[in-house]
Amino acid sequence: EDGTYSEQHRPQFHFSPPHMWMNDPNGMVYYKGEYHLFYQHYPDSTVWGPMHWGHAVSKDLVHWQNLPIALYPDSLGYIFSGSAVIDENNTAGFQKGDEKTIIAIFTHHNPKTEKQVQSLAYSTDKGRTWVKYHRNPVLPNPGISDFRDPKVSWYAPAKKWIMTLAVKDRVHFYGSADLKSWQLLSEFGKGNVGAHGGVWECPDLFPLTVEGQQKWVLFVSINPGGPNGGSATQYFIGDFNGKEFKNSNPPTTTLWVDQGADNYAGVTWSNVPAQDGRRLFMGWMSNWYYANKVPTQNWRSATTVARELTLKNTPAGIRLASAPVKELQQLRQESKTIKAQEISSPINVSQQYNLKTPLTELNLNFDVSKSAGVVLKFSNAKGEYVHIGYSVPNKQLFIDRTSAGNGNFEPRFAKKHVAPLILQNGKLNLHLFLDVASVEVFANQGQLVMTDIFFPTEDFTHLEISSQGSARLLESQAYSLESIWK
Ligand code: FRU
Repeated sequence: EDGTYSEQHRPQFHFSPPHMWMNDPNGMVYYKGEYHLFYQHYPDSTVWGPMHWGHAVSKDLVHWQNLPIALYPDSLGYIFSGSAVIDENNTAGFQKGDEKTIIAIFTHHNPKTEKQVQSLAYSTDKGRTWVKYHRNPVLPNPGISDFRDPKVSWYAPAKKWIMTLAVKDRVHFYGSADLKSWQLLSEFGKGNVGAHGGVWECPDLFPLTVEGQQKWVLFVSINPGGPNGGSATQYFIGDFNGKEFKNSNPPTTTLWVDQGADNYAGVTWSNVPAQDGRRLFMGWMSNWYYANKVPTQNWRSATTVARELTLKNTPAGIRLASAPVKELQQLRQESKTIKAQEISSPINVSQQYNLKTPLTELNLNFDVSKSAGVVLKFSNAKGEYVHIGYSVPNKQLFIDRTSAGNGNFEPRFAKKHVAPLILQNGKLNLHLFLDVASVEVFANQGQLVMTDIFFPTEDFTHLEISSQGSARLLESQAYSLESIWK
């Protein structure tokens, strides 16, 4: 199924559905050279409706091939978010021949009763065709209204599956030997731990090692209650013993995967080969405040770029860091070195370096110690612009999309978003990706990420860098990127 991918505002190197509505990425799993991406999809409209699982595959996390819809709603309801695993040891008994089964564990949402249960579907042909388990659901509803988004992974020390489930304002952990029968192990989130501005959704639980020490990371998306309004994903760092998650930080510590307005419901890939070893992530580049209203035609929304997650020791403690996957480097067409210089007057980057494209990657280094901050201005000939910058007195990174074009479809859209960022010796690195209608800013080696979308009525092909006071631009790189759809 092909879309044209040429509509106004259509991202050119992010995944977006060929047609119609998309929300959360689902069931990300690697199998035999393919990264599978499923997603919340309503194929009959550009607004949310009866959910299906759309499907695409990629060999490199950058170029995507659309496949037929994997899961359709049925008598148990809509197909809400969930995960997928490779059943290496055939624990569920679905395997037919030599091919391992891919098993999807998802939420069935009954639109009449609004009750949610967890169910299985499996594929014995590398994800090309899907069969729902005839004894669904595998986890009935215990009488709680929000009970969804199972993220399942294999816990090797106890040889069992762990399901992490969003339950109203908590997370429940369940265990199973065969994916079909589940026992409640524990719950996490009581007593106002973390952010509780909205319902908890789309959790993930995975280990990462930092300087030889293994920690467990728990992701919980919340909506609303994000740091810049509406939907956002928080995380916890702690320990997991196969039964319980223990938070290593005080309950009042609230940590965010991304502090922009547009990265929601993201989770990580399962079954990435050990020799690769990366923890790979993708989120939904929108926000429930306005996802159904954004001014695009024929389709709605995109995912973030694929990102690699790591843990880093920082002065504040162990924190998550995000980086764009290295595979994105293949999109680089022209590469320009921007020489070190004082930003005494605005630098017209697009003109001086002949880089006039709305598909841009920048890796910019600044010394802002003798200034009040720096601002990047992406703009078009219509006077629309987005500002991305750092304020030294406020110690904040910001993205301002108040004048970025079409922004009046929802009053909560056209805003300036800010996030705290402490610099060392005034050193600021901004690694960012602009793709027609979005920007993802990875600041100081990904210790802070901000993702925002916007809708200029003409492409932003102009870039200017200015400073308040005398900031210094250190040697930097700028790239024009190619579209994945041509
Ligand atoms: C998150 C979410 C999930 C749910 C899905 C429904 O955006 O609300 O909790 O499974 O979307 O489409």
